[in-house]
Amino acid sequence: MRVLALLALAVSLAACDSAAPSGGAEPLAGGATTVFDASGNGFSTPAPNLSAGDLALHLVGDAEFEATFVTAPAPVNGGLGPVFNNTSCIACHARDGRSRESLLLRVSQRGRDLNGGPLAADGFGLQVQDRAILGHQPEGTVQVAWTERREVLSDGTVVSLREPAYTIGRPLHALPSEVSPRFSRPVFGLGLLEAVRESDLYALARAQEAGGEVSGRPNVVWDPIEGRMRVGRFGWKANQPSLISQTVTAYSEDMGVSSPWALSASGEAEIDRETVEAVTFYTQTLGVPARRGVLDPMVVRGERLFASVGCASCHAPELRTGSQTGVAAVSNQTIRPYTDLLLHDMGPALADGRPDFGASGSEWRTPPLWGLGLTRVVNGAEELMHDGRARGVVEAVMWHGGEAEAARERFRALSREERDALLAFLRSL
Ligand code: HEC
Ligand code: HEC
Repeated sequence: MRVLALLALAVSLAACDSAAPSGGAEPLAGGATTVFDASGNGFSTPAPNLSAGDLALHLVGDAEFEATFVTAPAPVNGGLGPVFNNTSCIACHARDGRSRESLLLRVSQRGRDLNGGPLAADGFGLQVQDRAILGHQPEGTVQVAWTERREVLSDGTVVSLREPAYTIGRPLHALPSEVSPRFSRPVFGLGLLEAVRESDLYALARAQEAGGEVSGRPNVVWDPIEGRMRVGRFGWKANQPSLISQTVTAYSEDMGVSSPWALSASGEAEIDRETVEAVTFYTQTLGVPARRGVLDPMVVRGERLFASVGCASCHAPELRTGSQTGVAAVSNQTIRPYTDLLLHDMGPALADGRPDFGASGSEWRTPPLWGLGLTRVVNGAEELMHDGRARGVVEAVMWHGGEAEAARERFRALSREERDALLAFLRSL
């Protein structure tokens, strides 16, 4: 296994050398955490540079990520609910990617909580839990109605866009004023994004401001683990500052499972500290799939167009990680995530009207595009954007507005050949 990986690494480095548009060697997507698996397991492979001890911890976390929780009392994995959205991490992050199963509604009422975050809606809290254990009632059902509209590209190609309108059926409480649908995202490569220095993100924001067309800024959010405000990185609005806080929140909100950081109403922790830490470590140390076909002239041309059309201003090709305590594998790597981790105003068509700390109702965090080309292989479908509305990359781009409107219009104006090249590049990610 290790020998094969090294061989693939050597081959790919040689390939990158001649493919890089600038003439230099293009770094591997995830630096030393890059994995060479373009199959359905492409998002599920541990980083190859883990020490034996770290790999063992990763595997413990893997088992916990897949564990199905049940109603207490139970010998293992009890504590589900009473209300919840799903029974395991993997149910919503299928093969460590995304799935329709994951769709949930974040809710709040107008105003702010004590830390500047969304104000919990009476009864619901911050999320509609649409399932419940025996003897309890779900908080409501999730209902969706779609409207279709058409966009025409400059070469005459028609793109059909479907817009969802979500409502809460059979609500258990008074309907909240703010509702925001969310799809899950892949969970690989996240330790690397966590290890990018805050100062680098602020530097990116300053460079964008000086540069003109786009103007991203970091979200600054409350960190419930460290008890302070800091830069947010995870979730579609970057409202989570760290993977441990994301994990703690996923257990308590998505599964109704309490932990030492989020005790139950009766002051109980249904999972221990070690479990939370192992699952967190798992999400910190999944490897990033290597690009494919980097030598293909069409892909090389597409990469240039990605920059000239303006996609790369937000989907920043290259970042550098700092040193991350306890996660050696992700420290000091040059990575190609295609995100700046910053918030951008994406216009009214994507707006959810639900502010989240520094993010306004129309701002979203640039999502990483690494692994994009394997989405269909891993998850069987492409359901892109924060609510899964886009059934492919072209639809995703045509939804871009606000700060990305100029890039979208340059995309619309591409010739068919240019568009095919850009799409070939995106498939190589
Ligand atoms: C009910 C479905 C569901 C379950 C169960 C669930 N997640 Fe998620 N997960 C989501 C959704 C939806 C998002 C996006 C949330 C947002 O942006 O507000 C997400 C986001 C994430 C992210 C951030 C990804 C990124 O790119 O920013 C991580 C990490 C994550 N989940 C880990 C976990 C872990 C660990 C568990 C189990 C403890 C878990 N999730 C359970 C639905 C789920
Ligand atoms: C102003 C910043 C900005 C620019 C410019 C931009 N994007 Fe995005 N992109 C975003 C944000 C923010 C989202 C998420 C929006 C949402 O989910 O509502 C996104 C989402 C996407 C997605 C869906 C990713 C996923 O995981 O669901 C793709 C694909 C994408 N962009 C490709 C492109 C391409 C190609 C271009 C150039 C034509 C481009 N973007 C230009 C900010 C930008």
